[in-house]
This record gives sequence, structure tokens and C-alpha cells, in this order.
Amino acid sequence: MDKNLQVLIKSLPKDKLSSDNYELVESNLPNIDENEVLVKTISFAITAGTRAGLQGSASYAGAPKTGIVMNSTGIGEIVESKNENFPVGKKVLTMTGWQSYSAQKPESLTLLRDNVDPSLYLGPLGINGLTAYFGLLEIGKPKEGETVMISAAAGSVGHLVGQIAKIKGCKVIGVCGSDEKCNTLVEELGFDSAVNYKDANYRQNLKEATPNGVDIYFDNTGGMILGSALFRLNPGGRIACCGVVSQYDTSSPEPGPKGIPGLLVNKSIRMEGFLVFDFAAKYEDATSKIIEWIESGKLKVLTDEVHGLGSAPEAFVDLLSGGNIGTRIVLLEN
Ligand SMILES: NC(=O)c1ccc[n+]([C@@H]2O[C@H](COP(=O)([O-])OP(=O)(O)OC[C@H]3O[C@@H](n4cnc5c(N)ncnc54)[C@H](OP(=O)(O)O)[C@@H]3O)[C@@H](O)[C@H]2O)c1
Repeated sequence: MDKNLQVLIKSLPKDKLSSDNYELVESNLPNIDENEVLVKTISFAITAGTRAGLQGSASYAGAPKTGIVMNSTGIGEIVESKNENFPVGKKVLTMTGWQSYSAQKPESLTLLRDNVDPSLYLGPLGINGLTAYFGLLEIGKPKEGETVMISAAAGSVGHLVGQIAKIKGCKVIGVCGSDEKCNTLVEELGFDSAVNYKDANYRQNLKEATPNGVDIYFDNTGGMILGSALFRLNPGGRIACCGVVSQYDTSSPEPGPKGIPGLLVNKSIRMEGFLVFDFAAKYEDATSKIIEWIESGKLKVLTDEVHGLGSAPEAFVDLLSGGNIGTRIVLLEN
């Protein structure tokens, strides 16, 4: 009989995350209760926000704990079922965590649509794609001809935000951490320009890339890049606060940038945080729209694959230092 391979949180990171904070263990398959199903994981996403969960700064994730399976969304196949709405053989999106099998309640399962590549549910059709969609459209409220600036622009959320902004007729400037990523954004995804924040001339380069200022800043990072965006925003600008990845991988996050609220007041800027879950009632419609964009070739999906459960800790450490382009997915060996 199969065993359940699991990656547990062995210790909480004291400063930067290390793969030593995890351990790989083998346990028995979980039993399922009435109405539940047993899901065999096919793949799961490694996402920056789960580092905030380990830091204790993600309210929805609760207090960080050790001895539990590292959390993540994943896709899997139902291999045992006590629920007629979720029969054996169906593929689902759920919180698999970093493990090969999980017992799931029906309310935590989303059946994948037929004729759609299942891996899209970890990127554009999953949490990160919906975050890009609602954060830009509902919080940023882009108008044709406006300029949109995005940080962590070559990441899972960021590369989708930029392309949705292009679909809406905006001028798009990505900020990311390497020249290779900048090239990908412009050459492959159609961003108007991209700026490397690690370059010594970053501020000047950003100024040159945004001659008409910025109308919407989609903030995935906080920190220095948020500070630079505040000075480029036009009167009436909007900041969609999506995440603070520059401050997750540390035990001493910096306070926010200088100039708030003065800069916001003087330019009538709206700065608004959001959680994707705020828009749960609209997920189905957004999913249909995103599928339409992918099928028509308007939205390109960048995926970065890693193989084997045991490679997840290193893949997460590497993502936090900018190793990924697009959505990082761990594929389990069968
Ligand atoms: N509000 C919500 O409901 C919601 C939902 C999902 C995700 N999020 C947020 O969305 C953001 C992006 O998440 P993701 O999963 O798509 O991750 P991601 O962008 O694919 O990966 C993280 C990226 O952050 C960049 N980064 C790391 N340290 C940085 C630093 N000090 N300064 C600037 N950039 C840094 C790296 O790219 P570079 O090479 O460019 O440095 C890295 O590739 C996160 O802040 C996450 O918390 C929010």
C-alpha cells in the first residue's frame, strides 16, 4: 500500500528561510470521514504569500506552527470518495499542501473544468491569477491609455497583471530583479518597458520609463519599490496593495516608506489593500474570462517547473530570492 510522503515545517525561520526549516517524512495514508474524499496530489504551487504565513503576518493563515504539513494549493485526483458529488477519477483544485495524499472536505474542493489544462489552476485560474484579475480591475480600475506600474512583475501574479493591463489598453511598466526577467517581460509578454530594481540607476531608469508618470501602481513588494512608485504617481493615482514580498523573508520587516500620508494627500492618491478572497463570489466569471484570454492568445502563461516533493523547500528558498519566472510548480513523481 502507498505511503504518504509529507514535507513538515520542522522549525520556524529565525531570519531568512532555509530548507533546514523543513523535513521530509513518511506516514500512513489519511482515513476519510463521511462526505470526504482522498486526493492524490499531482502538483502544487510554491507562492510567496506562504512565507508571510510562516512570519505570522498573514491574518488569514493564523499563527505559524511547527510539526504540520507546509500549506499550498495544488491539484490532484480523487482516489477514494465518500461523496457522490466528487467521484473517484475527478481532478480537483484544493489545499493539498506539500504532501502526496490528503483527506479533503467537499467545501475545500473545486472541480476542474473539462478541456482545460489542469496546471493552469495553479497559475492564471488559481489564487494568483484571480489576485491579478481582481487586484487590477477592481482595485486599480484601469482606464484605456493609463500607465500601470507593477512590482515583482515577472512573478506569478505580476506577469499576469501586466498582460491584463495591456488587454485593457494601458501602457505597462514592470519592475523586477534581473535584466533577463526585464527582457522576458518586454520581448515575450508585450510589456512596454521593464526596469531592474537592482540596477544602481534604478530611480533614473524608472523616471525615463514613465515620462507621463504612473496612474496605477500594483504593489507586490512594498519597501523601496513602493517608495519609488509614490514619487512617480500622478494626481488621482491608485495603489493596489497586493503583498509585501520584500519584507517577508526576515524577522525584522522595515516600517513603510516615508512620505505617507503627505504624498497621498497632495496628489489625491487612493492606496487600498485587498485579499483575493474578498471577491470569491465572482471567481467563476473571472475564470471564464481568463480562459477566453488564454485561448485567444491574449494572455501568455509562464510556468516554472520543479520535480519531486523533496525539492520543494529549496525551490521555495530560491523563489524568495527571485529564482522563478512566472508560477513555480512542483510536479510530484508518480
Ligand atoms: N492580496 C492577495 O490576496 C494575494 C494573493 C496572492 C498573492 N499575493 C501577493 O502577491 C505577491 C506575489 O506573489 P507570487 O506568489 O506571485 O510570488 P512571485 O512574484 O512569483 O515570487 C516572488 C518574487 O518576489 C520578488 N522579490 C523577492 N524579494 C524581493 C525584494 N526584496 N524586493 C523586490 N522583489 C522581491 C522576486 O522577483 P525579483 O527577481 O523581481 O526580485 C520573486 O521572484 C506577494 O506579495 C504575495 O503575498 C497577494
